[in-house]
Amino acid sequence: MRPQRPIGVFDSGIGGLTVVHALRRLLPSEALVYLGDTARVPYGTKSHDTIVRYTLQMGALLQQHDPKLIVVACNTASAHGLAALQAVSPCPVLGVIAPGAEAASQSNGPVGVIGTLATVASAAYEEAIRRHRPGAVIHSVACPLLVSLAEEGWVDDPITDAVCRRYLNELPFEVKTVVLGCTHYPILKASLSRARPGTTWIDSGEVAAEAVERLLRNGLGFRTESAPGPLRLILTDASSRLREVGERFLGESLGSLELVDL
Ligand code: DGL
Repeated sequence: MRPQRPIGVFDSGIGGLTVVHALRRLLPSEALVYLGDTARVPYGTKSHDTIVRYTLQMGALLQQHDPKLIVVACNTASAHGLAALQAVSPCPVLGVIAPGAEAASQSNGPVGVIGTLATVASAAYEEAIRRHRPGAVIHSVACPLLVSLAEEGWVDDPITDAVCRRYLNELPFEVKTVVLGCTHYPILKASLSRARPGTTWIDSGEVAAEAVERLLRNGLGFRTESAPGPLRLILTDASSRLREVGERFLGESLGSLELVDL
């Protein structure tokens, strides 16, 4: 299985660095190759066909690095393009929706899901949660403004608090478990918690990292080096604010960035 090979992580932009952060915490020895489609972000406002096409292109680019596993960190790409990518990929492909849905299905009572317009329109979380808990009551709310607020760095700001309140107030009072179904939302956890105290938040990136750990343990194999695994960052565009925003998502400095042509 050649476990020394890297894990490929793909996202529509740099939001998926929250998933890389979770992976590096849980599996520090693994080598990671991150591919962010910063030239075409956001995916969350695009159509199904376009998201599938972009997901397949990004998957093909990642294959050049001979990954042992591809993680689709982007919820929107997982919702629309995962099956298409799995059908053509020579290595296993894990999306973030199945792990997040499984974690949510273990709670009692109705479940809330927040995500991009395209993720919510796909009903992918609903289907995945009902696979585990057929009668589950699920309320989904698209929160398109939250991506911009997270990228703007308004993580502790009354405006973000108000926007979170406005979106989360669409969820019935009985909803006590909410899936953060978007790469950017973990950054806004403080605002979200202020808007809806007492909620259990399921971070789809964190539970995806746990699912990666299980896949490695059950056959793909762990990289054996004890030194911290290298992180290669490859983007389709590097705008001026990218480093500042990316470091907020990753929680460490970004190091060198490579650009790839589409
Ligand atoms: N990465 C996307 C997601 O998790 C959010 C940004 C976008 O719309 O592309 O759904």
